[in-house]
Amino acid sequence: MANIKTIGILTSGGDAPGMNAAIRSVTRSGIANGFRIKAIYRGYEGLINDEIKEFSTEDVSGIIDSGGTILRTARSERFMTNEGMDEAYSVLKKESIDALVVIGGNGSLTGAMKFAQRYDFSCVGLPGTIDNDLYGTDSTIGYDTTLNTIVECVDRIRDTATSHERIFFVEVMGRDAGFLAQYSAIASGAEAAIIPEDRTDVDQLEQFLRRGIRKSKKSCIVIVSESPKCGAMYYADRVRKEFPEYDVRVTILGHIQRGGRPSAYDRVLASETGYGAIQAIIQGQRNVMIGFRNNQIVYVPFSEAIRSDKPLDRRLIKILDELSI
Ligand code: F6P
Repeated sequence: MANIKTIGILTSGGDAPGMNAAIRSVTRSGIANGFRIKAIYRGYEGLINDEIKEFSTEDVSGIIDSGGTILRTARSERFMTNEGMDEAYSVLKKESIDALVVIGGNGSLTGAMKFAQRYDFSCVGLPGTIDNDLYGTDSTIGYDTTLNTIVECVDRIRDTATSHERIFFVEVMGRDAGFLAQYSAIASGAEAAIIPEDRTDVDQLEQFLRRGIRKSKKSCIVIVSESPKCGAMYYADRVRKEFPEYDVRVTILGHIQRGGRPSAYDRVLASETGYGAIQAIIQGQRNVMIGFRNNQIVYVPFSEAIRSDKPLDRRLIKILDELSI
């Protein structure tokens, strides 16, 4: 450990349930190991603006069960520029912060990696995103809660879909990853999932229609991963045009998916990885994401964690196909 006395902590990018549990874990574990903890508000933007307050253990009391992030969050465009990074670095120096814990998703950890490289600064990351798109960790903080929220919503949609014998296209978040869509489809007994990982030359809707919706069922639910061009609306419009006999509805779940009390799994994951971040700093690890794989804390270099191709087990596609006949 290169003489690290004070650790800064921030949340960045989209908030995710469990981020507060992670802030609590880093703060308490840091203080327990003799570090000073400085909380940085509003992500990298707040770092540049010097929105910083020293945290005591009491500052993180009573937050383990709340969604969102008490530190607030932002997507900072200034931090993507060299000038913005220079400003952030001088604030860290002024505040005597020797290491930074960044809780966030792909973009936030990419920012941490670039910053760490540019100034040879000690940064560690926690995987905080509902998308589960970070490589090297079985799950990300927030993913389990969001998955459960989606499944609860789809269960409700199923009641009305069955009653009216309708086709529902339900759009879920995930940015470029289909984990939320594929897993929620299996967990809610949906008839199909349309996910980015499976967008090939063969049109997924066509494939699904060819298999025969409504052969054995009078209603059906298709979970669609968000996409600027081919979201739930796109598929619903196509079915309306090509199969006017079907009664089609669309539900876009939107930001409902991001809020709410974190699940027990996310709280434990956040607590484990927050503790792991402090252990990593003590061991002199830097520029790594703290992942959790096969029930073990793992240190994943940022460059690996942000790889855009975290694989979705293709077995799951087959399972959904088979179980939805
Ligand atoms: O990365 C988390 C996420 O919720 C994505 O699933 C989604 O595409 C995006 O953030 C939405 O971002 P915003 O809240 O800025 O609209």
